Amino acid sequence: MKKEISVSSSLIQKAVFPIAGLGSRFLPVTKATPKEMLPIVDKPLIQYAVEEAYASGIRQMIFVTGRTKRSVEDHFDTAYELEIELERAGKYELLELAQSIAPSDMTCIYVRQHRALGLGHAVLCARPLIGHEPFAVILADDFMVSQQPVLAQLMAHFEQFRCSVLAVAQVPASEVNKYGIVEGRPHASGAIELSHVVEKPAVGQTTSTTAIVGRYILNPSIFDRLALIAARHAEGEIQLTDAILEVLQTQPVHALSFEGQRYDCGSKLGMLQATVNIALQHPDVGVQFAAWLKTREDPI
Ligand code: G1P
Repeated sequence: MKKEISVSSSLIQKAVFPIAGLGSRFLPVTKATPKEMLPIVDKPLIQYAVEEAYASGIRQMIFVTGRTKRSVEDHFDTAYELEIELERAGKYELLELAQSIAPSDMTCIYVRQHRALGLGHAVLCARPLIGHEPFAVILADDFMVSQQPVLAQLMAHFEQFRCSVLAVAQVPASEVNKYGIVEGRPHASGAIELSHVVEKPAVGQTTSTTAIVGRYILNPSIFDRLALIAARHAEGEIQLTDAILEVLQTQPVHALSFEGQRYDCGSKLGMLQATVNIALQHPDVGVQFAAWLKTREDPI
């Protein structure tokens, strides 16, 4: 785990990681392996996400998990046999690496989402563990590389304005149907003050190309909205975006463009792009990999 590189807002102490999704876009690898455990070079996606929260000052990590996701719990637990073996072999650097995944001041809490009822339902599953505090949500397959953690950027904004705030990025007009899309007016802070948000609109249904990209700071009022939506739609998916739209009727919600590069690691292309870029910067293999990329013949 990287050292904390920014001072936390003590207002946000908990991060929710919804990880119960099936990951069907990555089959066959996700048949028995959680998509959150897919690596970018040598570190699983979920670890990058947890590191981002930790570096933002958060110490309580809440995983909304499901069947077949047990390896995520193991990853953030002590690996007793591995540690003994590494110690016996005198491999102290590797031992430190294994131990650093779960620093002693970090708490991991797991709650099961029994049915795949959408992101809103996953967040609602965390309600008993959050209570009445504002909290963060991180979607691990939106992988972020930035100077300051993207979550810390949102937290700094929340600290100032105390309204829910979502990370957004521009996407091609042909891809709005993959995202929650926001509309609004410029706020003095540089953020957008939302007037409307819609989950995965059809292409052409909105002129906005400003998409929510997997980082949220939410006020706890979202839970009442989610619970009402859940009561209305006993069977269908519960979208977080729909609850945000309802919050908007009574409270401001901001959307913030952030400094940093986002990779869509929910898609194979994004995963490959992230892998190449992280590999090029990797201390063990970066230089050799860059040289190999330059000299490699076109395999086709
Ligand atoms: C989810 C959200 C969507 C958001 C997206 C970001 O969709 O429902 O609003 O824009 O994450 O990645 P999913 O990608 O899980 O379908």
